[in-house]
Amino acid sequence: MSYPYQIKSYEQYQKDYQRSIEDPADFWSEIAQHFTWKKKWHTTLNWNFKEPKVEWFKGAKLNITENCLDRFLEKSGDIPAIIWEPNDPEEHHRILTYKKLYEKVCQFAHVLKNNGIKKGDRVCIYMGMIPELAIAVLACARIGAIHSVIFGGFSAQSISDRLFDAQAEFIVTCDGAYRGQKDIPLKSVIDDALIGNRTVKKVIVSTRTRTAVSMIKGRDVWWEDEIKKVETMGLTDFPAEEMDAEDPLFILYTSGSTGKPKGVVHSCAGYMIYANYTFINVFQYQPGDIHFCTADIGWITGHSYILYGPLSAGATTLMFEGVPTWPDAGRFWDIVDKYRVNILYTAPTAIRSLMGFGLGPVHGHDLSSLKVLGTVGEPINEEAWHWYNEHIGKKKCPIVDTWWQTETGGILISNLAGITPAKASWATLPLPGVQPILVDDQGHEIVEKEDGLYKGNLCIKHPWPATIRTTYGDHERCRTNYFATYENLYFTGDGALKDENGFYRITGRVDDVLNVSGHRIGTAEVENAINMHSGVVESAVVGYPHDIKGQGIYAYVIYQGSHQQNSHGTADLIRKDILQTVTRIIGAIAKPDKIQFVSGLPKTRSGKIMRRILRKIAEGEIDNLGDTTTLLDPNVVDEIKNGKL
Ligand code: PRX
Repeated sequence: MSYPYQIKSYEQYQKDYQRSIEDPADFWSEIAQHFTWKKKWHTTLNWNFKEPKVEWFKGAKLNITENCLDRFLEKSGDIPAIIWEPNDPEEHHRILTYKKLYEKVCQFAHVLKNNGIKKGDRVCIYMGMIPELAIAVLACARIGAIHSVIFGGFSAQSISDRLFDAQAEFIVTCDGAYRGQKDIPLKSVIDDALIGNRTVKKVIVSTRTRTAVSMIKGRDVWWEDEIKKVETMGLTDFPAEEMDAEDPLFILYTSGSTGKPKGVVHSCAGYMIYANYTFINVFQYQPGDIHFCTADIGWITGHSYILYGPLSAGATTLMFEGVPTWPDAGRFWDIVDKYRVNILYTAPTAIRSLMGFGLGPVHGHDLSSLKVLGTVGEPINEEAWHWYNEHIGKKKCPIVDTWWQTETGGILISNLAGITPAKASWATLPLPGVQPILVDDQGHEIVEKEDGLYKGNLCIKHPWPATIRTTYGDHERCRTNYFATYENLYFTGDGALKDENGFYRITGRVDDVLNVSGHRIGTAEVENAINMHSGVVESAVVGYPHDIKGQGIYAYVIYQGSHQQNSHGTADLIRKDILQTVTRIIGAIAKPDKIQFVSGLPKTRSGKIMRRILRKIAEGEIDNLGDTTTLLDPNVVDEIKNGKL
């Protein structure tokens, strides 16, 4: 197998890039010829960012699983599609060849059908990182149901909100999930999420931890029992549902600067082609390579670069159930050594946390199989970049710093491994088809350099195939969030720098979205959760630099009466109660790192909280707060400064 559209040199990148912006439709239409279609498209691209409307390959019919499975069966059915490494290194790993994975997906597609699930239905998937998660996702795609995977760290309340928003009628889950030493009772969280729910008809439960679970008659069924029924009937194939190019493939919830998380919707054809193209080009995947992306499938990175990108390329993808630090901080290196991993794709936060353990856990592992390293999810600081380069890549592996978002479906800005130049902490060049632009707050293109660099808000001028199509059930929200800030531009929410070579460096979010250990969390979301605590009057949440997490969460809280010592306990106990509340409402990933009790918040005369000031204090820049004279009560700032944690 070879990839005719794999870029082989810097010159070719430049040529392809040029062609992709001169005639995007022609460029992508040529790449799309290499996929399996049930019917070809009549219009390659139809778009306007005003509504917004983005349609790629209109008129085409396909099923993404035929592109990820069926088309490889004949020639490479026996090569591993998924290598699964369990949480416990003593447990046996599993290998699913393309043939095996195909069979399992088809069987589970029958299970879905037998349980009343059909094209267009929303299926919520809440599972640990076991092969059954991949099988469930692909089986949904096979029958045309829209999957919505929810990360295992979200609380019952978060699940309940998402079920409601997606009007989901079906859930696939596990009894529990292993993560390091923890055993997370997923089914029990689902049971809590379903209290009062009237839309969910069926819950399919896969067995992993053998944790005791309550199975509700008529609603809950065991995965294994359902599979047995299908096996008894000897069913190993399932005809792939014919999908329109623009039919939704999945919903994935992500945080924004306001309100509850929104359901980002991706389409079948455009998403598939873009995930595949970026996978093959950014990582320079070669047939036979073992690709290890350490993300969870609950995030977009797992969707695109554990599942759809690699599988649509006939690649071997490694899926890891556990965490990087258990049983010890050498676990990633152990996996690389054991499976002779060629491509390792992880988050800067993981690198920083592993750096903290020194070189001991790296020693004794043979990392010579590695060819390409990648990072994703947040800016990588130079120290972490150099450590990764020297101690993991042994200075012979290009590092790709891949910038993208849930909404973009695939990587938009990144160097191509070994093909285009790398620069520490810089995502560098846009991929073919991607047209970035930096604008000021009024939307004017930045044309003047500041200290030798262009600096502005990062937008994209033209659709790429995996552009977000809508936010589920609320298209207007999609418009206002991404397409209304600047006319005719997709606004990313990120700030960026550009150098004279056209290289981009992402500097972080310019809106009220935090990036904590590569997880996206809205400050408003955390504030809402904190405010649910009965004693909290008001709160304001900001980010601050954190050595390992990238950003930490700093909460300023006004508590009723005195927080020091009241009938409900001491400040420390109240802090714990607040953390517990946030864990209940969102999940442990959104717990503030610091909670400072204050008697007031800095507000303008119109009542707006001056977050700029709070951010500066949290960052420790207390002598450089700028103008505070417009505040309603400037004294409050001194109090906050003095009480800084
Ligand atoms: O701020 C950017 C940051 O992560 C945000 C997107 O988060 P999410 O939708 O959860 O997707 C993460 C995985 C693709 C972006 O708006 N981000 C992502 N990659 C990078 C990054 N920041 C700097 N450099 C990156 N390589």
